[in-house]
Amino acid sequence: MKPRHTKPEQDLAQQLELRPGQSIELLKALHILTREGRINQDSRRKLKQVYHLYQFIAPILEELSNSGCALSLADHGAGKSYLGFILYDLYFKALGCGHIYGIETRAPLVEASQKLATRLGFERMSFLNMSVAESARTQAMPEAFDVVTALHACDTATDDAIAFGLEKKAGAMVIVPCCQAEVAACLRQNKALSLARTPLAELWRHPLHTREIGSQLTNVLRCLHLEACGYQVTVTELVGWEHSMKNELIIARHTGQKKRSSAERLQALLAEFGLEQALAHRYALEQVI
Ligand SMILES: C[S@@+](CC[C@H](N)C(=O)[O-])C[C@H]1O[C@@H](n2cnc3c(N)ncnc32)[C@H](O)[C@@H]1O
Repeated sequence: MKPRHTKPEQDLAQQLELRPGQSIELLKALHILTREGRINQDSRRKLKQVYHLYQFIAPILEELSNSGCALSLADHGAGKSYLGFILYDLYFKALGCGHIYGIETRAPLVEASQKLATRLGFERMSFLNMSVAESARTQAMPEAFDVVTALHACDTATDDAIAFGLEKKAGAMVIVPCCQAEVAACLRQNKALSLARTPLAELWRHPLHTREIGSQLTNVLRCLHLEACGYQVTVTELVGWEHSMKNELIIARHTGQKKRSSAERLQALLAEFGLEQALAHRYALEQVI
């Protein structure tokens, strides 16, 4: 009997951890495979990252799709839409229903993704050329979403993605924050007011530390905000440091239980760091406290 795959094909499938039915055409289009079908090592790293993220997202999709079929997923700051395409190929394709929306401000990327989706017959994928904030108001999107993802959406686009998820009553949010400059700029400007004369100020004295603690503090505030708004939050590592410096993965599952203590902690942190005014537009928690 003739073998179903030749040895090189089997090796390739193993190296790429290909799943049954996975589109080789897609991997070529995403430049993970060269036109000759060989592995592009640089892009393979990206694939690894997305696969790793998929391991966290798949059980969430499974659980949410059990409670009704037509899953909707918004991927913010989609870029070339690696994540959206892999999620569609590995999950939505076989599911036969549900829709993925990619939101991205760079028009050529949106156009290229739309073309690729059409070419591959991924009918239930749409790409919108707009900012995350704009996408919350557009008629082109559903009023509610099951899942919101944002993989390295730049700076405050991550905050806008969280605001989008809250507004659209998302069942789950899967967020990998990128660099964050807003809080670091505030720390630089007002030196965190009441903390400025304490030894804690050492934590952001050097510019590199200001940036890092700005990011750290931002993510802490984001988690508290999500908890205060009725989400259970898990923070973990996306992949090893060798792949990306920004590898914090925040997974928020809606439970409906708004944590008053998180809202209070959030307010207290904002006050300690002198951020109340600067971030008032992000963290309005009157209903919780
Ligand atoms: C670092 S890339 C990540 C792309 C993709 N998620 C990935 O991981 O491969 C960030 C993307 O977010 C887009 N972006 C930045 N700010 C945005 C905003 N406010 N709204 C929508 N897209 C935004 C950028 O154009 C860029 O393509």
